[in-house]
Amino acid sequence: MHDETIAIHGGYQAAGTRAVAVPIYQTVAHDFIDAEHANAIMDLEIAGFHYNRINNPTNDVLEKRLAALEGGSAALVVASGMAAVSYSILTVAPPGSNFVVAPQLYGATYTYFAHVLPSLGITARFALDDRAESIAPLIDERTSCVFVESIGNPAGNVVDIEAVAEVAHRGGVPLIVDNTVATPMLLKPLHHGADVVVHSMTKFIGGHGTTLGGAIVDGGTFPWAEHASRFPNFNEPEVAFHGVAFARDFPERPFVVRARSIQLRNTGATLSPFSSFQFLLGLETLALRLERHEANARAVAAYLAADPRVEWVSFVGFPDHPYYDLAQRYLRGHVPSIITFGVRGGYDAGLAFFDALDLFKRLLNLGDAKSLVIHPASTTHRQLSSEELTAAGISPEMIRLSIGLEHVDDLIADLDQALSVATG
Ligand SMILES: Cc1ncc(COP(=O)(O)O)c(C=O)c1O
Repeated sequence: MHDETIAIHGGYQAAGTRAVAVPIYQTVAHDFIDAEHANAIMDLEIAGFHYNRINNPTNDVLEKRLAALEGGSAALVVASGMAAVSYSILTVAPPGSNFVVAPQLYGATYTYFAHVLPSLGITARFALDDRAESIAPLIDERTSCVFVESIGNPAGNVVDIEAVAEVAHRGGVPLIVDNTVATPMLLKPLHHGADVVVHSMTKFIGGHGTTLGGAIVDGGTFPWAEHASRFPNFNEPEVAFHGVAFARDFPERPFVVRARSIQLRNTGATLSPFSSFQFLLGLETLALRLERHEANARAVAAYLAADPRVEWVSFVGFPDHPYYDLAQRYLRGHVPSIITFGVRGGYDAGLAFFDALDLFKRLLNLGDAKSLVIHPASTTHRQLSSEELTAAGISPEMIRLSIGLEHVDDLIADLDQALSVATG
């Protein structure tokens, strides 16, 4: 089936009541048939719903739908994108290990990697940039994975996933890709050699700014057993589960089973079934919304680029953008609806512009039906030092727009009046 069809029907067959919408299973637990059934489920010998910190039938539909859209073997949904990011690293990286990361990252991810994970004995090695040549020399025998954002937020860089996957695999480690900005409609990292995908569903997948959620998708293809000494967490028997070895016992989806059984079970960043319901609704219209997001973003970017009150515009749809060719190749001619730019007059003019906007909402999100604006250096990336900001692709005056679904003339009118206030 095609993506548009999977996004509406994937993972669900109406049974029982024949409800067309996926039911919200608002329950904490599920009745075991008998003691034998309970034991088998608890030891991961059979799949089944038991306690809703760990799994839930509504979430299960969303997981199947996402796995199908990304071309993976299984998925796990969790309470936020940050939970997905942190569970993905904690699933693969034992204490004492390092992982290699491209520096163009969402601010909380950057801070978590640079300043929180070291306290758990896990070191993030930041490459100079996102190129495979910069990442390769940082991989050594204590490396557990490579992590990149397919499209960096807000830098807008498009990673050459095939080249990065190649150097990761040559170094014996998986590639984890945060595919939040692209969504599986624009890009499927697993088709380009990545091994695991993570998402903040809070953004385009939800699409309406109502719900926080994250997801991890397992490609199911990384050869964990070939690297047994590097990945004891996948190959050695798990004491808590009576000797289960994730790579041996769940060869098609070891990453997601481990993330669910170890991270989610023990630390409980569980997605509520109501939130899953919201994301299922979001997915139904994702392809359609992206068309309008893109058309509006192209028009707004062209408007800004032609306006003398604007100093610079970065939009990956412009042929002179440094990542234009990679975007053409990986996004099949499409572009995300994120634009960054600087107002003539620098930092102060940028903030005056920000304050003068009326229709654009000033908030910490992207991918909403509503158009949004943020000043990354003082908000999403506030915790970064000036060197870290430069590495993450953020200049002090940078304004980030997430272009929504309103009529584009109304958006341009709002930008125009705010530019007049800021530069007048
Ligand atoms: C690329 C990216 N990854 C992860 C996150 C974290 O997601 P959440 O806010 O759902 O925790 C964000 C949030 O902005 C993001 O942009």
